[in-house]
Amino acid sequence: MSWEPICALEQLTPERGRAALLPDGTQVALFRTRDDDLFAVENLDPFSNAYVMSRGILGDRAGTPTVASPMYKQVFDLATGECKDAERVRLRTFEVSCRDGVVAVRVPEAVPV
Ligand code: FES
Repeated sequence: MSWEPICALEQLTPERGRAALLPDGTQVALFRTRDDDLFAVENLDPFSNAYVMSRGILGDRAGTPTVASPMYKQVFDLATGECKDAERVRLRTFEVSCRDGVVAVRVPEAVPV
């Protein structure tokens, strides 16, 4: 696993998402909450099959930070990716770090071809 730098922390608006492309072509949706917690999930909405999760609406369910799909409004736990509205559906999640003001996402090593 390695850390892929994405952007400066100040480029992330609290309560807003931002899409980023990982070296393997995976699209992630990066979020900064009001409390300055950082989360990354796959940008692909499993219900609409559209790359829209970065435009999702942040919220919380009983204190757990969530994102709602901008398409059909299903709500996902930002930390686990679990869908709160449908069992067995989950978004892939990624570890996020911030060091010296740079936000990075943890990605699997590239596999040589
Ligand atoms: S939160 Fe990024 S350097 Fe402190």
